[in-house]
Amino acid sequence: MHKIQLAQNGPEFSRIIAGVMTWGVWGKNLSTKKAASYIDECLDLGVSTFDHADIYGHYTTEALFGRATKGKSSLRQQMKLISKCGIKLITPHRPNYKVHGYDTSKAHILFSVENSLKSLRTDYLDLLLIHRPSPLMHPYEIAEAFNQLKQSGKILNFGVSNFSPSQFTLLNQYVPLVTNQIEVSLLHDEFLLDGTLDQCMQHEIAPMAYSTMAKGLFFSQEATEPVQRIKKVCDKLKKKYRASYEELLTAWLLAHPARILPIIGTTRIDRMAAAVRAVEISMEREDWFALWEAARGQEVA
Ligand SMILES: NC(=O)c1ccc[n+]([C@@H]2O[C@H](COP(=O)([O-])OP(=O)(O)OC[C@H]3O[C@@H](n4cnc5c(N)ncnc54)[C@H](OP(=O)(O)O)[C@@H]3O)[C@@H](O)[C@H]2O)c1
Repeated sequence: MHKIQLAQNGPEFSRIIAGVMTWGVWGKNLSTKKAASYIDECLDLGVSTFDHADIYGHYTTEALFGRATKGKSSLRQQMKLISKCGIKLITPHRPNYKVHGYDTSKAHILFSVENSLKSLRTDYLDLLLIHRPSPLMHPYEIAEAFNQLKQSGKILNFGVSNFSPSQFTLLNQYVPLVTNQIEVSLLHDEFLLDGTLDQCMQHEIAPMAYSTMAKGLFFSQEATEPVQRIKKVCDKLKKKYRASYEELLTAWLLAHPARILPIIGTTRIDRMAAAVRAVEISMEREDWFALWEAARGQEVA
């Protein structure tokens, strides 16, 4: 599988990333055994990067992954682990949290990382992201936490998620960031135009895209009008590219020059394999615009 270097002197991650959000109680509730075999199958496909967050499964899904990889120390060198922190959820697993909010204090970041490392049964993470920008975040305080984590070897690289270009610029002044993880798909295209992807290219960092299948909306029984239009265009393109509907949806993202790394949220290996096949597709400009036009319901100006 093709790899992407996230930034100058940054880490190399598999172009396709496995998203772990729905593996546990927030979705498919995989058994430890099923999660273990799915990890092996992903690695066999070359999908060696796994995207976690402390909150997934109300703070339980990292531990599912940790159990699934327990006792297989050789696996750790084969994979890259991402996690995120900064959101506080109200749940019996965190009885002290009274309000759903954000916390980017140094104490919270350090606390969250300790929990992630313990749950994932690893000594380090390849990448830690601030999950969402908080109005109360202070870049200096976040940088202090990041520097301490880097020096201790617990976190190798840092990034952000859902940050606007100005929020990215502010934090990047204090600590080098290697990615901005954002929602991008044909049904969620605001980042094509708001400067976020331009900024990634300016800084030579590769963005990561989540909800690339619009959380399953592309496949819903009652397809919305944009989805019906997109499907119609894909039907015409399938033969030309010898590709399926889902492969074309992923190929559309991969064609962007910002070198987007799609995070694939499926728990089915055949769907993950389709994403991997999409990496081989070079979508022509005219087809890219035909799909964008179908999604927007109008021609570009
Ligand atoms: N940074 C953030 O704020 C943030 C936010 C959300 C998500 N994420 C990350 O991004 C990952 C993906 O996000 P997501 O789950 O929203 O992504 P998604 O890929 O858009 O949606 C996944 C859902 O779509 C279904 N699906 C996928 N392919 C399908 C197909 N070919 N046919 C029918 N259904 C299909 C999946 O079901 P099956 O499992 O049955 O295939 C799953 O329920 C997460 O796991 C997480 O790591 C990050």
